[in-house]
Amino acid sequence: MAHAPARSAAAPADRLAAEGGTPVCRELIPVVSARLGEEEISAAVEVLRSGQLRQGKKCVEFEAAFAAATGAGFALTTCNGTTALQLAYEPIIGPGDDVLCPAYGFIATASMILARGARPVFCDVDERTFNIDAADAEQRLTPRTTAIVATHLYGNPADIDAVEDLADRRGLSVVYDAAQSHLATWRGQGIGAFGHATTYSFYPTKNMTTGEGGMITTNDEELAQRIALLRDHGMEPGKRYHHVALGYNYRLTDVAAAIGLAQLARLPERTARRQANGARLTSLLKDVPAVITPLATEGAGHVYHQYTIRVQVDQLRCDRDEFARLLAAEGVGSATHYPRAISDQPIIAELVPEREPMPISEMLARQALCLPVHHDLTATQLDQIAEAVAKVATAMQR
Ligand SMILES: Cc1ncc(COP(=O)(O)O)c(C=O)c1O
Repeated sequence: MAHAPARSAAAPADRLAAEGGTPVCRELIPVVSARLGEEEISAAVEVLRSGQLRQGKKCVEFEAAFAAATGAGFALTTCNGTTALQLAYEPIIGPGDDVLCPAYGFIATASMILARGARPVFCDVDERTFNIDAADAEQRLTPRTTAIVATHLYGNPADIDAVEDLADRRGLSVVYDAAQSHLATWRGQGIGAFGHATTYSFYPTKNMTTGEGGMITTNDEELAQRIALLRDHGMEPGKRYHHVALGYNYRLTDVAAAIGLAQLARLPERTARRQANGARLTSLLKDVPAVITPLATEGAGHVYHQYTIRVQVDQLRCDRDEFARLLAAEGVGSATHYPRAISDQPIIAELVPEREPMPISEMLARQALCLPVHHDLTATQLDQIAEAVAKVATAMQR
């Protein structure tokens, strides 16, 4: 199917904006809001004036505040969410290991397993929550499986009970990729309280940012020390130029940490706004044909990094990308995260040739569409987003 014309003779009389009708909203509602405020700017300037440009006191302060905010014992800053994954994996996963990981999401979750010399064993996801399906993962265990990585995608925690139960029964280590899920909770506790390590990203589009940046949380002091060592050239603390491990330079700067502290202070309020926006969108969209609204995993405090609908393309005369184009013509921005399953990426197919079908991940890659849900949206904009989605879905219905 796919690529049906945007409008046929059967389309309703109120023509879609894409064909010259009146758009729902004249100015595009952006799908992200990534502006920094005065607090962030003055905090960064203060550090710049101090001359302390590398990792220092601000990073330590940021780590303490972030550990407390996520319910973790220890937090370690790093220069982005990808190096956070790499640093978390290295002490836990060995070369030659098999590591269970979701087939749907962002490539770094899997590519850093490969960077470690281990093999990602892709698992399908739950179509309601977009997160790893622990029952599917259990079917894919091999004698070399040592760990499971679960992503908390779009701000929605994976089923942590199911992941930990599998890990306990099979003696697996657990890493959570929470790049998109700062301040998310599981059964009322911060997600940093679970697993061997949890990683985060502060890329500009995330719920909080430091420009580029990342963090690792853990409750294991020894693991925290090992990660700190690897982050700084394997150099023993207090012993300059004494290198006891093959490490990296994945440090964050104090300028970025100062921005992060200011962003973290705003995050509870912004998260509450995202959650209210998500709930409002769900109530407005629940009866729209061919649209499935997102569901928080039971037990999870979803922080709505993305509000991801499923466009049921089999019920429509257009595919998801055409749906997005029609929405843009109505003045509503959207984004496709992700147009391919990770297991379908060319480099992954090359490096992991034993490819298994991932029906749910492949379906989500055709259906998922992220609508604006950020803290800057007004009540009117939320109504306009829902109105535009309903207008496009109704006009395109088969
Ligand atoms: C799920 C997930 N993991 C890892 C990353 C990597 O983070 P970064 O871009 O900060 O390296 C991202 C960033 O988009 C992500 O969404």
